[in-house]
Amino acid sequence: MLHDNVTPYQSSDSKKEQVAQMFDNIANRYDFLNTLLSAGTHKGWRKKCVNLLKTKQPKVILDVATGTGDFAIECAKLNPEKIIGIDISDGMMQFGREKLKKLKLESLITLENGNAETVAFPDNTFDAIVVGFGVRNFQNLEIGLDNLYRILKPGGQLVILEFAYPTNWFIKGLYNFYFSYITPLVGKIFSNDNRAYTYLTESVKAFPNNEKFVAILNKLKFKNTNFKGLSFGVAAIYYAEK
Ligand SMILES: C[S@@+](CC[C@H](N)C(=O)[O-])C[C@H]1O[C@@H](n2cnc3c(N)ncnc32)[C@H](O)[C@@H]1O
Repeated sequence: MLHDNVTPYQSSDSKKEQVAQMFDNIANRYDFLNTLLSAGTHKGWRKKCVNLLKTKQPKVILDVATGTGDFAIECAKLNPEKIIGIDISDGMMQFGREKLKKLKLESLITLENGNAETVAFPDNTFDAIVVGFGVRNFQNLEIGLDNLYRILKPGGQLVILEFAYPTNWFIKGLYNFYFSYITPLVGKIFSNDNRAYTYLTESVKAFPNNEKFVAILNKLKFKNTNFKGLSFGVAAIYYAEK
């Protein structure tokens, strides 16, 4: 099945509506389950992404699909002038805003409702754009990435973190077991949504990862594209410039 057609509830609502509803439903458990299900590994992955941005010292950064704001908060270490996080789930951002308040980062980081595919920032606005576990959920992947290209400054950097599908047969076996049985079960027990963590598994499997994703970035005219597998290939960082 084409990844754009993999949806949380398989209902007649658009994928965007279903995804926003799903993240609103699980928002209060999202951070907890992220840490539980990845044994905390997701924090290190975001750090690796932010390290890739260090050399160019971006001043204005966009965190797309910011959710509860973890990627935006990690980007604060780059000492930029401004970070904007956008997301289609107000429920997720509500928890993000509480974190920003506690960390006294409210003046540096603002979170706004916005859809990657349609957000209307002017052309060439951002020095860097990051997306953590977001592109898999776009309604139309290429329209979303193309819009990010438009609002990135020439020479600006795009760093995407996303789950991937390992190639090693042994890791793949463990991964299939974990993602098919453990993740949906734990997700069902702890979140308020029976489908969310099953959708996670289905959407990861259908997603064009690694070289396929780089090919899409190249098709959309991004330059200096590459990817790096993380933790035996269960996730990947994609890097590109405009
Ligand atoms: C798995 S969460 C990731 C949150 C955060 N980036 C992180 O690293 O933990 C995915 C987020 O993507 C958001 N999202 C999905 N499609 C989107 C779109 N088209 N535009 C903006 N946000 C989107 C969802 O609402 C959700 O909050």
